[in-house]
Amino acid sequence: MITINEHYLKLQASYLFSDIAKRVTSFQEKNPDRNIIRLGIGDVTKGLPAACVEAFHKAVDEMAQDGTFRGYGPEQGYGFLREAIAANDFQSRGADIAADEIFVSDGAKCDTGNFQELFSTATKVAIPDPVYPVYLDTNVMAGRTGKYENGRYGGIVYLDSNRENNFVPELPKEPVDLIYLCFPNNPTGSTISKDQLKQWVDYAREHKSLILFDAAYEAFIRDESLPKSIYEIDGAREVAIEFRSFSKNAGFTGTRCAYTVVPKECRAYDSQGKEHDLHFLWNRRHCTKFNGVSYPVQRAAEAVYSEEGKKQVQALAAYYMRNADLIRKEIESLGYSYVGGENCPYIWIDGGKDSWQFFDMLLDKAGVVCTPGAGFGTCGQGYIRLSAFNSHENVQEAMERIRSVLG
Ligand code: MLT
Repeated sequence: MITINEHYLKLQASYLFSDIAKRVTSFQEKNPDRNIIRLGIGDVTKGLPAACVEAFHKAVDEMAQDGTFRGYGPEQGYGFLREAIAANDFQSRGADIAADEIFVSDGAKCDTGNFQELFSTATKVAIPDPVYPVYLDTNVMAGRTGKYENGRYGGIVYLDSNRENNFVPELPKEPVDLIYLCFPNNPTGSTISKDQLKQWVDYAREHKSLILFDAAYEAFIRDESLPKSIYEIDGAREVAIEFRSFSKNAGFTGTRCAYTVVPKECRAYDSQGKEHDLHFLWNRRHCTKFNGVSYPVQRAAEAVYSEEGKKQVQALAAYYMRNADLIRKEIESLGYSYVGGENCPYIWIDGGKDSWQFFDMLLDKAGVVCTPGAGFGTCGQGYIRLSAFNSHENVQEAMERIRSVLG
């Protein structure tokens, strides 16, 4: 008899963004004439940068000819992309990361979800609340939690992010082994200073724990004093894994390319306390379960680092951040308190009522989709998240409609 992994039964019925998509589809079916503006899921709307498109086309043409065709590539990614990443995203900022510490993949969602596979079920996991649901759900699937009760899973150390701590969680009061951090933050849009991040790195070093640092939104940082990578912090190479993505900076949500940095100094321990090399283990996992990102996509990603590509991705970030500025201005003038939107394309708004009620009200009255904060954790209750990823015209229209409903 085939039996299931019963940890799956602890999960909430559906993944947050699938749940929202279902509600929006059902609303649209009942109201076919309503024009809905989506400021919910952080999905980009602008076309790929011209430099990426050109490189993409060229690589597809290479694939068409026997002489330049490529079959299976290196599972970790082609050297041309890994070298461009190491030089531009890290070495140029004084972060000591080498090309062979980079693992190219098809998305940060998969990487942040998969990395926990390397650790024992006894691992004590600390997860912010609110949080990108993938970190939590994948630990539930792996059996690292108890039951779901009153909005929380037993066994997880929740790191509350709220107005009191300016949406940057405090260090855990009990020892933890695995820590998830995301800055600029999804969903709150908050940022962390170098000094604050140093405290986490020091904590991890002291407790022999590991930080999984999601930096998918670093391209939107405008404040030069903020860290773009955890490796800008001394000592992080020994205790931190970093996840990056081309989805938000270069519009690759549908094209798929991302990468994970696993420095060679990172260690984890077996039940006898013996050290093991995480770079070796992740490489082993990656080569066994993944066959690499397609050659044309990697060439398109490499073009992000060309002179033209750099200008084009900066222009994309500036485009979406102009939307974020507009959303902040409007929300502020409506008298709501919010965080985010300054160095991140998400604005986290205190709606003063149940998040799902607020979601339904905005959809029904304004035809605008937001993300209910409660979907990201109990600390998100009462909040909604607006995403700046849409056309400027749509964001303007959405904010006019929101003003007419809330104003
Ligand atoms: C979000 O809206 O939180 C993100 O777009 C989800 C993701 O990147 O998977």
